[in-house]
Amino acid sequence: MILSIESSCDDSSIAITRIDDLKLVFHKKISQEREHSGFGGVVPELAARLHAIALPNILEEAKEYLPGLKAVAVTNEPGLSVTLIEGVMIAKALCLCLDIPLLPINHLKGHIYSLFIEKEAHFPLDVLLVSGGHTQVLHVKSYEDIKLLASTLDDSFGESFDKVAKMLHLGYPGGAIVESYAKEGEDRFGFTVPLKNSKNVAFSYSGLKNQTRLAIENLKDKMTQKDRNDICASFQKTAILHIITQLKKIFKYSGFKDFAVVGGASANNALRRELFEFCKKFGATLHFAPFEFCSDNAAMIGRAAVEAYKLKKFADIDNVLINPKSTF
Ligand code: KG4
Ligand code: ZN
Repeated sequence: MILSIESSCDDSSIAITRIDDLKLVFHKKISQEREHSGFGGVVPELAARLHAIALPNILEEAKEYLPGLKAVAVTNEPGLSVTLIEGVMIAKALCLCLDIPLLPINHLKGHIYSLFIEKEAHFPLDVLLVSGGHTQVLHVKSYEDIKLLASTLDDSFGESFDKVAKMLHLGYPGGAIVESYAKEGEDRFGFTVPLKNSKNVAFSYSGLKNQTRLAIENLKDKMTQKDRNDICASFQKTAILHIITQLKKIFKYSGFKDFAVVGGASANNALRRELFEFCKKFGATLHFAPFEFCSDNAAMIGRAAVEAYKLKKFADIDNVLINPKSTF
């Protein structure tokens, strides 16, 4: 079995995955949403201190599995440096105590493998990764062969939901909250779709964030619940339309057969609906992970780690690199 640790942002999570049949034997996650909510975003040092408490507590619960471990896997990139270190230090200590190898895992690969928890992986696959830190389209041929097709020039998709929620004082993380308000509202504001007339294949959310900010400022203290719902509906509709517009540009000539959406924001039902229609039009199949594995978790890191283990991607324990800004 492989023990995997995830601490790249504000979720402390540990999983145990059986190598032979991919079974997820143990999985626990402690989220810090409540602790960061008042700040409207993640406070890195607070997150690190909370990981230092939560991870040993979860490890205590997984103690019975330690004798059966073949390796320890840990997210080492990308993420917040001070929180990545917490997971990496625990992983190193475990590897030294148990005399087993360490597997450093890229968090974004983890999100891709969230599609294959307790399942065999199937490639090639085109993937939309939408999270708090990333908005990317990837062409994935294998664990080691991943090509970046498009990415964001500024804010990410999930981050823009968090910022809209912050401007409306709705709490953190904003994704699910903005989605629930949007469900009750209508697209009254008609925001401009970012990069609409650009030949660039990329994403950009800072302009849409500003359009939303101006709409909020115009309403000032007169804002009603209907205004809030309509702002969220207008923002969400434009944010999703932007994704679909860029995907159309990417796949107009190349075509695709299997398309997946992963990452925390892939839990958004309106996004899933639009992607489903988009794939239907192109004759492709849409794949997504179960809701519980969309946001950060150690099960996806453990699933990716099985591939890393088979490929013998072990790290020198005295030289485990932490790369907060790594990308494909
Ligand atoms: O993958 P994840 O857990 O962490 C990162 O790797 O960043 O993604 C968290 C992000 C947050 O920005 C959160 O607001 C967003 O995913 N998110 C959503 C929804 N649920 C979570 N965004 C839009 N709609 C949602 N339903
Ligand atoms: Zn993530």
